[in-house]
Amino acid sequence: MQRYFCQPGGAISGEIRVPGDKSISHRALILGSVAEGDTELRGVLESENCLATMAALRDLGVRIVRLGRNRVLIPGVGLDGLRAAPHALNLGSGATPLRLFMGLLAADKFDSTLLGDASLMRRPMERVAVPLRLMNADISTHNGLPPVSIRGGRHLQAIDYELPVASAQLKSALLLAGLRADGRTRVAEPVQTRDHTERLLSAFGVEVLRQYRGVAIEGGQTLRGTEIEIPGDFSSAAFFIVLGCLAAERGLTLRGVGINPTRTGLLDLLGLMGADIRVRPKGEPEPPGRNTTQVVGEPLADIEVRASRLRGITVPESMVTLTIDEFPVFFIAAACAEGETLVRGVHELRVKESDRLAAMAEGLARLGVEHELLPDGLWIRGGAGFSGGSVDSHGDHRIAMAFAVASARASGPLEIRDVANVATSFPGFVQTAQAVGLPIEAV
Ligand code: S3P
Repeated sequence: MQRYFCQPGGAISGEIRVPGDKSISHRALILGSVAEGDTELRGVLESENCLATMAALRDLGVRIVRLGRNRVLIPGVGLDGLRAAPHALNLGSGATPLRLFMGLLAADKFDSTLLGDASLMRRPMERVAVPLRLMNADISTHNGLPPVSIRGGRHLQAIDYELPVASAQLKSALLLAGLRADGRTRVAEPVQTRDHTERLLSAFGVEVLRQYRGVAIEGGQTLRGTEIEIPGDFSSAAFFIVLGCLAAERGLTLRGVGINPTRTGLLDLLGLMGADIRVRPKGEPEPPGRNTTQVVGEPLADIEVRASRLRGITVPESMVTLTIDEFPVFFIAAACAEGETLVRGVHELRVKESDRLAAMAEGLARLGVEHELLPDGLWIRGGAGFSGGSVDSHGDHRIAMAFAVASARASGPLEIRDVANVATSFPGFVQTAQAVGLPIEAV
């Protein structure tokens, strides 16, 4: 079982780039596959998780040609061009591709089975199956969990659906099913979730109707192949943004990070805590006028961060969805802030790659941080720093990286167990952390 050993402290500084966005990479691979004509992706994330999505698409009869590092060409097969996979599609730890495939494959002529690794086999799938059944899909789960079985040959009907949970994966699955349904599918969101699917569909020439608190799509549209530049993943940058706040006396710069406002709640929360962060928006990476390349309508920025005195805050519930994947590392920032921090309304953290509330509470306890685990959140009294010790990531990439960041403020060496899954989202994390001065080693 792979572990990290971190020596305490480290003078953090320098300039880095983080790998391509995971959410956008999965979507771009899937949409490019079912487009008409060629799609070229640059900056695509080649993490284990995205490689599993590519393998699944190949199983469905798509050719994905690797042109070079983080570059692929996909001759799209069209929305009706996928063919039955020879075996169950294994999405590794990827809940996003599994749920998106549920929507995409529900209208196909053939049957499919979707499954994944041990963590994915514990993730709830009925939230997607229920509305797809309302669209006339034939989908079954195993007591709510994968494997998910889809029976082909169903004709889908559009629905009007109000999401019972704020989930971009669920919204995206319904939009993909809606593309192949009769009529106009409308999805209302209680709160805005990440909108990468909507932006990408527009880039592929699909008309997506943005409505007040929701989105709608007319069935029967086709996708046109395109060129897409994928921005750096804000969720990977988040670890270095917090690391910079904790220990970059001379400053740390992150280049080319996606700052889609549906993803960047962490910047606002750290701002409320008094962090010294500068966001410098960038123009398109390609010169204007070259309309072949799109940054999928996603805003990009360079982010500069400096060691800051943080103060504890009560997190407004309206910020929860915009920060959802960043809470593990936010809790590390909170443990270093003066005073108390309270986060409520984050029950969804209990059904991520691990129960992230429980996993973080357990690790904080081992490192001597006063806290209280709540059914839907966490209270932390910060300011006392971390002792050294040993924590378990529970096989969850974001828990592993969050505790690696904590080591910058630990008083003794830190061991983090079960870290191999960092490769699902951030290949090269250890090298990048070493490059900015964090004394970390993978063993
Ligand atoms: C994602 C949506 C979020 C997020 C996940 C990626 C996506 O999950 O936590 O890491 O790519 O759409 P939910 O849709 O379950 O909220």
